[in-house]
Amino acid sequence: MDEQLSPDSSRAAPLHSPVFEHMVTTLREQAWCVIPDALPPLLRDALLAQLQQPAALGLRAAGIGRQQEHTVAPDIRSDAIAWITGSTPAEQAWLAWADALRQFLNRHLFLGLDSFESHFAHYAPGAFYARHVDAFRHAGVPAASTRRMSLVAYFNPHWQTEHGGELALFDPQSGQEYRVLPELGTVALFLSEEVPHEVRAARRDRYSIAGWFRVRTGSVPV
Ligand code: OGA
Ligand code: MN
Repeated sequence: MDEQLSPDSSRAAPLHSPVFEHMVTTLREQAWCVIPDALPPLLRDALLAQLQQPAALGLRAAGIGRQQEHTVAPDIRSDAIAWITGSTPAEQAWLAWADALRQFLNRHLFLGLDSFESHFAHYAPGAFYARHVDAFRHAGVPAASTRRMSLVAYFNPHWQTEHGGELALFDPQSGQEYRVLPELGTVALFLSEEVPHEVRAARRDRYSIAGWFRVRTGSVPV
Protein backbone atom coordinates (compact mmCIF):
# COMPACT_ATOMS: atom_id res chain seq x y z
CA MET A 1 0.00 0.00 0.00
CA ASP A 2 1.21 3.55 -0.76
CA GLU A 3 2.74 5.40 2.17
CA GLN A 4 2.03 8.81 0.64
CA LEU A 5 -1.35 10.47 0.71
CA SER A 6 -2.02 11.55 -2.85
CA PRO A 7 -4.95 11.43 -5.27
CA ASP A 8 -3.08 8.44 -6.60
CA SER A 9 -3.91 6.62 -3.40
CA SER A 10 -6.96 5.41 -5.30
CA ARG A 11 -4.36 2.62 -5.55
CA ALA A 12 -4.58 2.44 -1.75
CA ALA A 13 -8.08 1.08 -2.38
CA PRO A 14 -7.11 -1.74 -4.75
CA LEU A 15 -9.66 -3.48 -6.90
CA HIS A 16 -9.79 -6.38 -4.47
CA SER A 17 -10.16 -4.28 -1.34
CA PRO A 18 -11.72 -6.51 1.36
CA VAL A 19 -13.83 -3.53 2.47
CA PHE A 20 -15.29 -3.06 -1.00
CA GLU A 21 -15.86 -6.83 -1.28
CA HIS A 22 -17.73 -6.80 2.03
CA MET A 23 -19.89 -3.89 0.90
CA VAL A 24 -20.87 -5.63 -2.33
CA THR A 25 -21.63 -8.92 -0.59
CA THR A 26 -23.88 -7.18 1.94
CA LEU A 27 -25.62 -4.99 -0.65
CA ARG A 28 -26.58 -8.06 -2.65
CA GLU A 29 -28.66 -9.14 0.39
CA GLN A 30 -30.01 -5.88 1.79
CA ALA A 31 -30.39 -2.18 1.00
CA TRP A 32 -27.71 -0.95 3.43
CA CYS A 33 -24.41 -1.87 5.05
CA VAL A 34 -22.30 -0.47 7.88
CA ILE A 35 -18.59 -1.17 8.19
CA PRO A 36 -16.35 -0.14 11.11
CA ASP A 37 -12.76 0.79 10.19
CA ALA A 38 -13.64 1.02 6.52
CA LEU A 39 -11.44 3.98 5.57
CA PRO A 40 -7.77 3.54 4.67
CA PRO A 41 -5.89 4.86 7.75
CA LEU A 42 -3.92 7.58 5.90
CA LEU A 43 -7.08 8.92 4.31
CA ARG A 44 -9.01 8.73 7.58
CA ASP A 45 -6.31 10.60 9.52
CA ALA A 46 -5.84 13.29 6.85
CA LEU A 47 -9.59 14.03 6.82
CA LEU A 48 -9.69 13.99 10.62
CA ALA A 49 -6.84 16.53 10.73
CA GLN A 50 -8.77 18.78 8.34
CA LEU A 51 -11.94 18.46 10.46
CA GLN A 52 -9.98 19.39 13.57
CA GLN A 53 -9.61 22.91 12.05
CA PRO A 54 -13.36 23.47 11.55
CA ALA A 55 -13.00 27.26 11.20
CA ALA A 56 -11.11 26.66 7.92
CA LEU A 57 -13.88 24.52 6.42
CA GLY A 58 -16.35 27.34 5.74
CA LEU A 59 -19.29 25.44 7.28
CA ARG A 60 -22.73 26.98 6.71
CA ALA A 61 -26.25 26.05 7.87
CA ALA A 62 -27.52 23.15 5.76
CA GLY A 63 -30.79 23.36 3.84
CA ILE A 64 -33.27 21.00 2.23
CA GLY A 65 -34.59 20.72 -1.35
CA ARG A 66 -32.97 21.12 -4.74
CA GLN A 67 -31.56 24.35 -6.17
CA GLN A 68 -34.28 27.07 -6.19
CA GLU A 69 -36.35 25.20 -3.62
CA HIS A 70 -33.38 25.14 -1.26
CA THR A 71 -34.36 26.46 2.18
CA VAL A 72 -32.82 26.31 5.63
CA ALA A 73 -35.26 24.32 7.79
CA PRO A 74 -33.92 24.06 11.35
CA ASP A 75 -36.96 22.02 12.45
CA ILE A 76 -35.86 19.28 9.97
CA ARG A 77 -32.07 19.55 10.10
CA SER A 78 -29.73 21.72 12.13
CA ASP A 79 -26.27 20.68 10.93
CA ALA A 80 -23.74 22.88 9.14
CA ILE A 81 -22.08 21.73 5.92
CA ALA A 82 -19.24 22.52 3.51
CA TRP A 83 -19.14 20.91 0.06
CA ILE A 84 -15.98 18.97 -0.80
CA THR A 85 -14.31 20.39 -3.87
CA GLY A 86 -10.91 18.70 -3.83
CA SER A 87 -9.14 21.83 -2.58
CA THR A 88 -6.77 19.93 -0.23
CA PRO A 89 -4.75 16.70 -0.63
CA ALA A 90 -7.09 15.03 1.91
CA GLU A 91 -10.16 16.01 -0.12
CA GLN A 92 -8.52 14.80 -3.34
CA ALA A 93 -7.69 11.46 -1.72
CA TRP A 94 -11.29 11.18 -0.46
CA LEU A 95 -12.67 11.84 -3.95
CA ALA A 96 -10.24 9.27 -5.40
CA TRP A 97 -11.31 6.65 -2.83
CA ALA A 98 -14.99 7.35 -3.53
CA ASP A 99 -14.35 7.02 -7.24
CA ALA A 100 -12.61 3.66 -6.77
CA LEU A 101 -15.66 2.54 -4.76
CA ARG A 102 -18.00 3.86 -7.47
CA GLN A 103 -16.20 1.78 -10.10
CA PHE A 104 -16.19 -1.31 -7.87
CA LEU A 105 -19.94 -1.01 -7.19
CA ASN A 106 -20.63 -0.56 -10.90
CA ARG A 107 -18.51 -3.55 -11.84
CA HIS A 108 -20.10 -5.91 -9.31
CA LEU A 109 -23.65 -4.60 -8.86
CA PHE A 110 -24.25 -3.02 -12.30
CA LEU A 111 -25.52 0.20 -10.75
CA GLY A 112 -24.39 2.60 -13.49
CA LEU A 113 -23.25 5.15 -10.90
CA ASP A 114 -22.03 8.12 -12.85
CA SER A 115 -20.91 10.91 -10.53
CA PHE A 116 -20.30 11.72 -6.86
CA GLU A 117 -20.92 14.73 -4.62
CA SER A 118 -20.15 15.06 -0.91
CA HIS A 119 -19.97 17.49 1.97
CA PHE A 120 -18.49 17.75 5.43
CA ALA A 121 -21.13 18.03 8.15
CA HIS A 122 -20.89 19.31 11.71
CA TYR A 123 -23.66 18.56 14.18
CA ALA A 124 -23.17 20.79 17.21
CA PRO A 125 -24.47 19.36 20.51
CA GLY A 126 -28.27 19.13 20.16
CA ALA A 127 -28.25 19.27 16.32
CA PHE A 128 -30.15 16.57 14.44
CA TYR A 129 -31.56 15.57 11.05
CA ALA A 130 -35.16 14.28 11.15
CA ARG A 131 -36.14 11.04 9.39
CA HIS A 132 -35.78 11.37 5.59
CA VAL A 133 -34.72 9.63 2.39
CA ASP A 134 -31.95 11.13 0.24
CA ALA A 135 -33.81 10.86 -3.10
CA PHE A 136 -37.33 10.32 -4.38
CA ARG A 137 -38.00 7.70 -7.00
CA HIS A 138 -40.84 9.68 -8.58
CA ALA A 139 -39.78 13.25 -7.97
CA GLY A 140 -42.16 15.79 -9.52
CA VAL A 141 -39.41 17.88 -11.09
CA PRO A 142 -37.44 16.12 -13.85
CA ALA A 143 -33.71 16.16 -13.21
CA ALA A 144 -30.71 15.20 -15.33
CA SER A 145 -29.39 12.96 -12.56
CA THR A 146 -30.56 11.54 -9.28
CA ARG A 147 -28.98 10.16 -6.11
CA ARG A 148 -28.86 6.36 -6.10
CA MET A 149 -26.35 5.33 -3.37
CA SER A 150 -25.58 7.26 -0.18
CA LEU A 151 -22.21 7.07 1.57
CA VAL A 152 -21.59 8.43 5.07
CA ALA A 153 -18.21 8.37 6.84
CA TYR A 154 -17.55 9.32 10.46
CA PHE A 155 -14.71 11.22 12.14
CA ASN A 156 -15.31 11.09 15.90
CA PRO A 157 -12.62 9.27 17.91
CA HIS A 158 -13.75 7.46 21.07
CA TRP A 159 -17.49 7.89 20.55
CA GLN A 160 -19.54 6.35 23.38
CA THR A 161 -23.17 5.22 23.31
CA GLU A 162 -24.03 7.86 25.95
CA HIS A 163 -22.89 10.60 23.55
CA GLY A 164 -26.03 9.95 21.45
CA GLY A 165 -25.74 11.15 17.84
CA GLU A 166 -26.54 7.78 16.27
CA LEU A 167 -27.46 7.41 12.65
CA ALA A 168 -30.68 5.34 12.72
CA LEU A 169 -31.25 3.36 9.50
CA PHE A 170 -34.66 1.77 8.87
CA ASP A 171 -34.49 -1.46 6.90
CA PRO A 172 -37.08 -1.13 4.09
CA GLN A 173 -37.97 -4.85 4.21
CA SER A 174 -38.38 -5.41 7.94
CA GLY A 175 -38.90 -1.81 9.10
CA GLN A 176 -36.36 -2.58 11.84
CA GLU A 177 -34.10 0.15 13.11
CA TYR A 178 -30.34 -0.24 13.02
CA ARG A 179 -28.23 2.24 15.03
CA VAL A 180 -24.78 3.38 13.90
CA LEU A 181 -22.38 5.10 16.29
CA PRO A 182 -20.47 7.83 14.41
CA GLU A 183 -17.05 6.43 15.43
CA LEU A 184 -13.91 7.42 13.52
CA GLY A 185 -13.49 5.28 10.39
CA THR A 186 -17.02 3.81 10.29
CA VAL A 187 -18.76 3.99 6.92
CA ALA A 188 -22.45 3.48 6.04
CA LEU A 189 -23.59 2.81 2.48
CA PHE A 190 -27.27 2.57 1.53
CA LEU A 191 -29.72 2.93 -1.37
CA SER A 192 -30.69 6.62 -1.41
CA GLU A 193 -34.30 6.07 -2.48
CA GLU A 194 -35.07 3.13 -0.23
CA VAL A 195 -33.57 3.56 3.21
CA PRO A 196 -35.17 6.13 5.54
CA HIS A 197 -32.73 7.37 8.17
CA GLU A 198 -32.26 10.06 10.77
CA VAL A 199 -29.49 11.63 12.85
CA ARG A 200 -30.24 11.78 16.58
CA ALA A 201 -29.07 14.71 18.65
CA ALA A 202 -25.65 14.27 20.25
CA ARG A 203 -24.08 15.57 23.44
CA ARG A 204 -20.75 16.16 21.67
CA ASP A 205 -19.68 17.82 18.44
CA ARG A 206 -20.23 15.26 15.70
CA TYR A 207 -18.38 15.29 12.36
CA SER A 208 -19.23 13.28 9.25
CA ILE A 209 -18.95 13.32 5.48
CA ALA A 210 -22.17 12.59 3.60
CA GLY A 211 -21.88 11.75 -0.10
CA TRP A 212 -24.06 10.54 -2.94
CA PHE A 213 -23.37 8.55 -6.06
CA ARG A 214 -25.68 9.69 -8.83
CA VAL A 215 -27.08 8.13 -11.99
CA ARG A 216 -28.11 9.97 -15.14
CA THR A 217 -31.85 9.82 -15.64
CA GLY A 218 -31.99 11.00 -19.25
CA SER A 219 -34.27 13.94 -18.42
CA VAL A 220 -33.38 17.37 -19.74
CA PRO A 221 -32.49 19.71 -16.87
CA VAL A 222 -35.03 22.49 -16.34
C1 OGA B 1 -27.52 13.45 5.19
C2 OGA B 1 -27.45 12.43 6.26
C3 OGA B 1 -26.17 11.33 8.01
C4 OGA B 1 -25.06 11.56 8.99
O1 OGA B 1 -26.69 14.37 5.19
O2 OGA B 1 -28.40 13.31 4.30
O3 OGA B 1 -28.37 11.64 6.36
O4 OGA B 1 -24.91 10.67 9.85
N1 OGA B 1 -26.35 12.38 7.07
O5 OGA B 1 -24.34 12.56 8.92
MN1 MN C 1 -29.56 11.55 4.51
